Amino acid sequence: MSSLDLALSRQYNTPMSLAVVILAAGKSTRMKSALTKVLHPVAGRPLITYPLAAAKVLRPDRIALVVGQGQRAEIEPALNGTRVRWVIQREQLGTGHAVLASYPALRGFSGPVLILAGDVPGLQSATLKDFVATCAASGAPGGVLTVEMADPTGYGRIVRNGTPHISHIVEERDLPPSAVTIREVNTGILCCESAWLFRALKKIERQNTQQEYYLTDLAKVAAEEGHPLIAIKTEDAAACQGVNSRAELAEVNRLMRRRIVEQWMDAGVGFVDPGQVYIDADVVIGEDTVIGPGVMLKGRTQIGARCRIDAGAVIMDSAVADDVVIKPYSVIEGSQIGVACQVGPFARLRPETRLEADVRIGNFVETKKSVLKKGAKANHLTYLGDATIGERTNVGCGTITCNYDGKKKHPTIIGEDVFIGSDTQFVAPVRIGKGAVTGAGSVITDDVPAGALAVARGRQVNVKNWAKKRKR
Ligand code: UD1
Ligand code: MG
Repeated sequence: MSSLDLALSRQYNTPMSLAVVILAAGKSTRMKSALTKVLHPVAGRPLITYPLAAAKVLRPDRIALVVGQGQRAEIEPALNGTRVRWVIQREQLGTGHAVLASYPALRGFSGPVLILAGDVPGLQSATLKDFVATCAASGAPGGVLTVEMADPTGYGRIVRNGTPHISHIVEERDLPPSAVTIREVNTGILCCESAWLFRALKKIERQNTQQEYYLTDLAKVAAEEGHPLIAIKTEDAAACQGVNSRAELAEVNRLMRRRIVEQWMDAGVGFVDPGQVYIDADVVIGEDTVIGPGVMLKGRTQIGARCRIDAGAVIMDSAVADDVVIKPYSVIEGSQIGVACQVGPFARLRPETRLEADVRIGNFVETKKSVLKKGAKANHLTYLGDATIGERTNVGCGTITCNYDGKKKHPTIIGEDVFIGSDTQFVAPVRIGKGAVTGAGSVITDDVPAGALAVARGRQVNVKNWAKKRKR
């Protein structure tokens, strides 16, 4: 066999016992950010959650997560309860040093150790599974997952002499002229037998440009011992993209977006322009829904079936039921939208908005912590805060709930079948009974009984011939 190809190795299953070490302690200098690199978002989820999720699918005996001093508190909330063995690498002396730091966390374990880079989110569990199996079956002390890159800049280059075996790996900053043309690179993913790994790591030195202990020097150690590591090539170069800079973060986000959109198209979701939507990893979308260009679906948003989400709509952490139309440039956050509602264009639904079925919200309407019951309508230029709007009630243009007295918020409760005249202001707390009507331009400060007409505005005075007199 001239090369150990992943495709040839599918017959092997993942060995029963496996340990995973995820490296996330790097200083992330190239990101130029106060935020730890592995917490930067990729499709709405922190970077670190990707290698972690891929590792979990392999059902390892344990996962060791290597972080820097003080990073645990910052990173732990991002793990959503996933149990890991925390490894604190006090000084960032390189990837080899980082794996060595995980030795106490792996004490008592014997078997293959899969090493994942916390900054390579695109690798899928199937690839990792095949990789681990191929390494285990190879007889070598370990293997390196490699890939051909059109532009290998920034990656460690694999030096092998026409065999599946690696003689050594050279890092970008130590690149000799002889290695400049090599396009096969280290993905940062390795798998080694635990006993050999920790013995070999102790042999690694830091004679290189960065004066770091390079994990990649394991290849040289193995070759010198006469049992070289094997290079196992994967085809999907895009999936191996590491995140070291803002540009690479954007690149990886693009890859993930494409994957997400393809997954939803396979599930029956339509896209006007699949390249122009931003859908987070945790979003769920129903069949026959059509998503327009420039739409952002963020966080834990759920969209039902047969919806239309038009151009430029931004929906965050919201639940949208079936047959809903969200018209262009509406911004919806932390809201629930019932069956067959129509929202927008240019509507803004703020947290704790709940629309029951068949509600209409039109242009330049803002809602916050409000409920609109079945069939209610607020079609133009309105602010509803801390409000309850009854079934079939019509909220006229320019209605405002004055819910804040400068210190506290107060409720406005409007019954069913109410007709609210344009430009009504409700000075909360206030209640409007069922079937009541308010006159246009009213400032409502007192409760209105059911069925009543409330008019609260200055009376009109017409002064006869006033205009003519003024001219004189
Ligand atoms: C590394 C590899 C390179 C490979 C590339 C793939 C080495 C020496 N180089 O380079 O061959 O092509 O990944 O993406 O391994 N980390 C620690 N502690 C440290 C240093 C790093 O935990 O002291 C972590 C980082 O947080 C990161 C990972 O290890 O998640 C890789 O480190 P990084 O500095 O990004 O290495 P690269 O330059 O990308
Ligand atoms: Mg990196």
